Formats: sequence, C-alpha cells, structure tokens
Amino acid sequence: MSIDLALIGGTGLYRFPGLEDAEQIVVDTPFGAPSDPITRGRVGERTLAFLARHGSGHSIAPHRVNYRANLWALHSLGARNIIGVNAVGGIRDDMGPRAVVVPDQIIDYTHGRITSYSDAEGVKVEHIDFSEPYSASMRAAILAAAARAGIAVVAGGCYGATQGPRLETRAEIARMRRDGCDLVGMTGMPEAALAREIRLEYACISLVANWAAGCGDTAEISLDEIFANLEYATAQLPPIIAELLA
Ligand code: HPA
Repeated sequence: MSIDLALIGGTGLYRFPGLEDAEQIVVDTPFGAPSDPITRGRVGERTLAFLARHGSGHSIAPHRVNYRANLWALHSLGARNIIGVNAVGGIRDDMGPRAVVVPDQIIDYTHGRITSYSDAEGVKVEHIDFSEPYSASMRAAILAAAARAGIAVVAGGCYGATQGPRLETRAEIARMRRDGCDLVGMTGMPEAALAREIRLEYACISLVANWAAGCGDTAEISLDEIFANLEYATAQLPPIIAELLA
C-alpha cells in the first residue's frame, strides 16, 4: 500500500482524527526506533501515515527525538511527501497565537543533535543544497489546500530552531528577531535537512501557541495559554489535510 502523505505531529498533535481503517505499524530502522508506532489509514481515497514526534505520551524531548529514525521509518513504508507539524512561538506581528504558518526559511540554533545520515565513518559524505529548505511543491500544495478549505494561513516566514526544552529568554528572542526569525520552535531541525538528504518532499506547518518571550504583553509565558491556543490551531489542520488529499 503506498502512502500519499505522512504527517509528523508535534506538541498537541498525537493522533490524526478521522483516519479510517487505521492500523499501527511498528518499524525499526538502521538508526534505531522511531518515536512511536506509525499509524496508517485512509482519508477518503488516499492513504495517510501519522507519527507522533514526541511519542504518543509526549515523553521524548526535542533534543532527544530520533529524527533520523522517524524519517527513515516513514520513507521505508513508502512515504515520499511529508509534512512536519510544529508548535511554535510567534515573533513577527502577523504570527500571533493561533496563527497557522507555512514557513519558507530556517535558521538553526540547535546543537548536539545528529544532523546527517552521513554520520558514520566510511559513509560517503553528501552535501545537499539547502538554499530553499522546504519543498516548493509541497508548500504550494498546502497553501492551495488551505485556500480551498477557507483556512487563513500565513505564507512564508523564517523558522528559528532552538534547542529547548526550555523556552527562550527575551534577549535570545530579541537576537533572533534581529537575525530575521519570524517564528521559534524546537523541532524544525534537523528534521528538514534530513528529509532533504533522503529526497523527501518535506514542508512544515507551524501552529503558533504563544508570543515568543518578550513579544506579547505578558511578563511570562503560561503553559495553559500554550495548550489552549494549540488546541485551537490544531483544529485548523484536518480540513487543510482533507483538501490536500482530495
Ligand atoms: N519557543 C520555542 N518553542 C516553542 C514555543 C516558544 O516560545 N512555543 C511553542 N513551541
């Protein structure tokens, strides 16, 4: 059975609602186990695979996610089109809580993660072009589907990937704003680069959970607020995916 689209769900998205004939598949890879079993099912005529990036019980921190195993597992089941869904903080004025964004650039501030499949001695090193880090065709398909579904989406923006699991300081976000970041999240990298290495059509849908540190008018970021906003933003996803697969 081929897979038309795979979703990697982030914080707040641990299953995809409305999958028909869903089955759980346990996959192993040369890079270890993925975060969770993969759920494969139908949306109408199409096949969708879903993987919870942090595990279904949210037990895997951003810096401990096995990004290589996750993408390899989906690839080995036949997925070539992948959307990474990420909870983020908003920096740019039009990317406040509950916004849905399809970014087009990345700045990577993470460290100590395994960032390449060319990581073992003796394996030929591959240098990928990453000028445009996301698949142009996948981004266009998401934006067109959102327009057909009548869901407002911000097209483009720079995703700043931080190490986590803590949120950032105000000074860190001020620096990221000066650098040109519009969003901040903890899981956008190395996922996007690894996807490019194994030639997946990969794009990201960012769900804004909160104003990044110092961007809103509150002194602190409340976790209750994060989860309430995420619930709202996550509900925008199924109609976009349904249109994408129609
Ligand atoms: N920073 C980093 N990652 C996040 C945030 C944030 O403010 N909100 C949700 N994920």
